[in-house]
Amino acid sequence: MGSATALDNVSVFLLLLPLFLQLSPLMAEEPVPCPATWPDQFHSVLFINRSSSLQKVDLWYDWPNGRNFNIIQHQLGVLSYDLEWDNGTSFYYTLHPFNTTCKVVHFDVGILRPNWLDGATFLGHKNVDNFLCNVWEKADFITYYEDVVTRRPVMWVFSSGMVAHVMTFEVGAVLEDANWQAPVYCFSETDTGSSLLESSIDVVSHGTLIRGIPHTAYA
Ligand SMILES: *[C@@H]1O[C@H](CO)[C@@H](O)[C@H](O)[C@H]1NC(C)=O
Ligand SMILES: *[C@@H]1O[C@H](CO)[C@@H](O)[C@H](O)[C@H]1NC(C)=O
Ligand SMILES: *[C@@H]1O[C@H](CO)[C@@H](O)[C@H](O)[C@H]1NC(C)=O
Repeated sequence: MGSATALDNVSVFLLLLPLFLQLSPLMAEEPVPCPATWPDQFHSVLFINRSSSLQKVDLWYDWPNGRNFNIIQHQLGVLSYDLEWDNGTSFYYTLHPFNTTCKVVHFDVGILRPNWLDGATFLGHKNVDNFLCNVWEKADFITYYEDVVTRRPVMWVFSSGMVAHVMTFEVGAVLEDANWQAPVYCFSETDTGSSLLESSIDVVSHGTLIRGIPHTAYA
């Protein structure tokens, strides 16, 4: 009698075992991954494809100094500078031997916070550029791909269709102060292009990430 009960218990256990094995991953409540906070300072080389025109961008993100730089090499074309200050002022300029132009734009938002991706919606995993990535969407305007293993950004895609591939990601790299000086013609009163106000959506289409973010994306 005793042995029969023991057998019954074993049978019940064996019967239920697959059920437990199947449910355990669900019951473990795997946490939804969050994007890594951006390092306070980094240098990144980006390849950007925007409306089929290619750019190589040197991105210098420098949060402690409240500044961000996009140095944009258009393929076989102009080298242009997009210098952004956390006080809302951006300088867009070109230097000799290209035409010496400058446009100063004032925004009512600063540069991106290192945690600007907080609150992004997790979409799952995807292989992009040969890296297995976690994918998030932020405020309907950017899809952000981060390497599952190293947690470095691999690619981001704007709703405009602009795609940025991250080629290098040097944490802690800082561009020397002397390089953050906009040229003197950015400060001349006669510059017809100065003090223009543009919508941030417009700036997305100009190819920059940092200011090209609708206000809702700011933490
Ligand atoms: C750039 O994007 C366009 C449009 O999506 C695509 O046809 C083209 O192949 C891309 N170029 C590169 C170099 O990825
Ligand atoms: C913001 O800071 C930059 C760099 O110091 C400066 O050139 C610019 O005039 C400042 N803008 C405002 C609105 O104070
Ligand atoms: C430079 O300026 C000249 C004169 O305004 C213009 O014709 C030319 O297209 C400009 N070049 C570039 C690369 O913007």
